[in-house]
Amino acid sequence: MTVGIDDIAIYIPRLFVDARDFAKARGMDPDKLQRGLGISQMAMVDTNQDPACMAANACLKIMQKNDLSPNEVGRLYVATESSLDESKAMNSYVIGMLEQVYGDDSFGHCGGIECKFACVSGSYALYDNSNWIRAGEAEGKSAIVVVSDIAKYDLGSSGEYTQGAGAVAMLVNDRPRLLEFDPKVTATSIKNEYDFYRPFGKETPIVHGQYSNLLYLLQVKKALMLYKEKALSSGLIKLKAGETILDYIDFLNMHLPYSNMGKKAMAYLLRHEWRKLPRWKKVIEKIGMEEPVPKDPRGTIESVLADSEFMTKDHEFTKKFTKTEEFQEAYDSKLASSLIASQMIGNLYTASLYLGFRSTLEFEFQKGTDLEEKRFGFGSYGSGSSAMVFSGVIKPTYKEIVRDMNLESEIGNRVKLSLEEYEEIHENKRGLKENFLKSKKEFVLVDVKNTPESSGERRYVYNS
Ligand code: HMG
Repeated sequence: MTVGIDDIAIYIPRLFVDARDFAKARGMDPDKLQRGLGISQMAMVDTNQDPACMAANACLKIMQKNDLSPNEVGRLYVATESSLDESKAMNSYVIGMLEQVYGDDSFGHCGGIECKFACVSGSYALYDNSNWIRAGEAEGKSAIVVVSDIAKYDLGSSGEYTQGAGAVAMLVNDRPRLLEFDPKVTATSIKNEYDFYRPFGKETPIVHGQYSNLLYLLQVKKALMLYKEKALSSGLIKLKAGETILDYIDFLNMHLPYSNMGKKAMAYLLRHEWRKLPRWKKVIEKIGMEEPVPKDPRGTIESVLADSEFMTKDHEFTKKFTKTEEFQEAYDSKLASSLIASQMIGNLYTASLYLGFRSTLEFEFQKGTDLEEKRFGFGSYGSGSSAMVFSGVIKPTYKEIVRDMNLESEIGNRVKLSLEEYEEIHENKRGLKENFLKSKKEFVLVDVKNTPESSGERRYVYNS
């Protein structure tokens, strides 16, 4: 049965911090952020915004754009790691907001939960909802999967320059106009890890930055190997001599905690896939050094990180590899367009991968690329940790959706925060009602109760 993404809508808050201003204020070289990590701007929520209202705004957009009535939506899932409550699921807040527009109990039939597994949970939500449709339970209805997050790190930490905020809503059904998922190839990897986590009650995560970078690569590679096995055994992809599975992925979308992580991941996966192929000999000649091997043949994450000689050489090798014509050709044709939105917005945790997908669609379309029947590969990663690799093929009807995409006009007039204003928001020094921007045609948070009997109750309104 055909299942896939029929349409996609985004909500990005209009406030932002400029990476160059930020770097100067922290005494850093601005090039480290712009060139080293690929960060130009980071979207920030206003005092009256939270992940639930961003999710509701993205949902409303997708419903209005498609003229959908609540009756046509059978499930509404929210995947987030910016949960507002230990018990009450975020989709209930979202439904409450949508019912302000569509009427009381208009979503009363609509099932759904909040999903959590750091940045990968949106991919699990998409997969589970696709299987709900495949199982024949949807009866023609669509599912909406919303991914919404605020990436917030401690002031002065190395994570602070990888912040961002936003939501992406995806309409999933059995008649997708945008992308059809490839069946029976979705592959996962999982391991109990502490690369990045946020204990109860803490607003910002505990992060082991370099460990998380490496773990991301290892986990995605593991999932890719399983994807490969499934794609070959199911006959989805047939390899000829000298080919790799990545030759059959026309566009690659990776989880993007910062945009250059996509490039790092692509380099890592290509090295892994190409090193056994005849083409590698030519690449090695161009690089001018042999590929380094870690001292410990087990290659565990701890042993690799402890092997500083290997790490230095490997870093040098990767740098040289990314400068080869072979890498550049793959990078420009398969990945570069997916990174543009991330540079402008920052990390959206669960929503980053899907913002990257949207970015590819918009910017490849602008370049005049014909995307019909092209295969998109998705590399999803969530700390803690789990990866999911899956793929899908672009439908002939995709232009109906993609031709109207315009990231800048969809975000609206962006307003740059001074560093002082940013820090006030970050440290929660401004009250909920001391918002910077006037909102129009969107949901905002107006109250959080603090009496003992109703502590934590949140009220939202739709400003028409
Ligand atoms: P850092 O230690 O500040 O940065 O932390 P660095 O020293 O690794 O430098 C970054 C890059 O800038 C390097 O490039 C430098 O060479 C370059 P690379 O060698 O890697 O290609 N650089 C410069 N370039 C130009 N001019 C200069 C200059 N100086 C340096 N002057 C780190 C970076 C990402 C670790 C940090 O920001 C961090 O901890 N971030 C948060 C964690 C994170 O994003 N981890 C990513 C993987 S885990 C993940 O994706 C999951 C996550 O989204 C959470 C979830 O799942 O929920 C985070």
